Amino acid sequence: MTDDTDERETICDSAASLVEGCRLPVRMAGGNDWPLAEIVSIKEIRESRFFYVHYIDFNKRLDEWVTEERLDTRKVQFPRRDGPAQGTGVSTPKKLGLGAGMGGGSVPSRPSSPVAAELVNGSAVLAAALHKKMSRKRKGVSLESEAGEARGGAEAAGAEARPESQEALPRSTGSMVAHHDDVVTRMKNVEMIMLGRHRIRPWYFSPYPQEMVHLPCIYICEFCLKYRKSLKCLEMHLAKCNLRHPPGNEIYRKGSISFFEIDGRKNKVYAQNLCLLAKLFLDHKTLYYDTDPFLFYVMTDFDARGFHIVGYFSKEKESTEDYNVACILTMPPYQRKGYGKLLIEFSYELSKFEGKTGSPEKPLSDLGLLSYRSYWAHTILDFLICAKPTGDFESPQITINEICEQTSIKKEDVISTLQNLNLINYYKGQYIITLNHELITSHSRAMEKRATRIDPKCLHWTPKDWSKRAKW
Ligand code: ACO
Ligand code: ZN
Repeated sequence: MTDDTDERETICDSAASLVEGCRLPVRMAGGNDWPLAEIVSIKEIRESRFFYVHYIDFNKRLDEWVTEERLDTRKVQFPRRDGPAQGTGVSTPKKLGLGAGMGGGSVPSRPSSPVAAELVNGSAVLAAALHKKMSRKRKGVSLESEAGEARGGAEAAGAEARPESQEALPRSTGSMVAHHDDVVTRMKNVEMIMLGRHRIRPWYFSPYPQEMVHLPCIYICEFCLKYRKSLKCLEMHLAKCNLRHPPGNEIYRKGSISFFEIDGRKNKVYAQNLCLLAKLFLDHKTLYYDTDPFLFYVMTDFDARGFHIVGYFSKEKESTEDYNVACILTMPPYQRKGYGKLLIEFSYELSKFEGKTGSPEKPLSDLGLLSYRSYWAHTILDFLICAKPTGDFESPQITINEICEQTSIKKEDVISTLQNLNLINYYKGQYIITLNHELITSHSRAMEKRATRIDPKCLHWTPKDWSKRAKW
């Protein structure tokens, strides 16, 4: 299916010769920009071809199905015959631990579990799809004729785009990392979800069952996170579902904001459904089916109808790398309102209670990095501005370690923040931090905007020493 020639730019007179892996300018939705994009998959519906494209220098959130008119076929780079470098150039999730039910990568410290018993929900479906794909490929079945099925032939495209390898086969662990970069998981597969009052368009792939992803919308109970095929089925569920808040213990409440702590072992189904939901908005995380080693902190907003999920973060019960967050998410309808920073603040508050410093699990997403940088800068500046001179010194004498102790932010994050803010100067043989007036003013303005803050007095929580337990 791929071109026999090496990578080359060529004029192709029609879109008919385009194949998966081709790169060409594509008009982005809602504008007249034509960035370079890669064709991830092609499907044919009633004699029209649709192309699933990834814009090379953009986040995968923007990947979409486009029709021929949006392709500039005058400048096409055909994929190289072998070697996925050009042919499957869509950025793939890093092989790093992601945790919280969203595990990724082959981080040795990450616990794993037997697969068959642990696979729930869509995982079995995804595993089966991949298995089917591989066995079909072994049998040498042409997949082109099936390119229209299975959400635009995602499966078929996967088989065409990659050489057969062990990598594509499900691994015998609870983690789905083995197929982290398969084309199936590179494409959005859910059209829409309904969660409480919100209809939300997903950003990324999530392994909901195949019978769910074919539907125009998945209806999710906002309290227990179970999913249903139709509004009617959801209504029937709601009539029976007693939950009006997440399961687990409410460990924080101030105003309408609460936090619930959920043990991934005790509330497995909830934890797995939360992971499935979260995966729709987390790209660089691969689903991790063993939720036992994680705690989930779900933030809710209360009204007369109940405690509505706003966001969550997950945390390993024991982290050898001092991670205090595995995955973090604000539900899209609540994003850019300061809830992300509230979640982050809460995670550091837990670390303070534990008497530790912590850091989020890497890699961070683009939005994760923005949010963390902003939180670290606010927190560190706040500490520096409030610091008072001691003894005979004119200016406060602060060590990096003191910043870490007071804020629970890990040393490397403190240093990178000070460097990013350009605050560290070398003066008369020593490093000093210089704060200018402008920075102080802009910091105060930013802090005024953060109306809602975590109040440690409202946290009712004692850290557990998980290492002392025989089993999580
Ligand atoms: N574009 C530009 N800036 C943004 C955007 C955006 N789309 N979204 C957030 N920001 C900035 C905000 O302006 C703010 O910066 P500021 O304080 O300097 O103004 C900062 O990021 C945080 O904003 P919040 O409103 O507090 O955060 P939000 O509620 O939007 O949540 C989060 C941030 C959790 C990263 C959210 O974007 C999200 O859920 N994204 C999808 C999942 C994800 O990527 N999670 C992080 C993965 S990394 C990990 O899990 C360890
Ligand atoms: Zn329910």
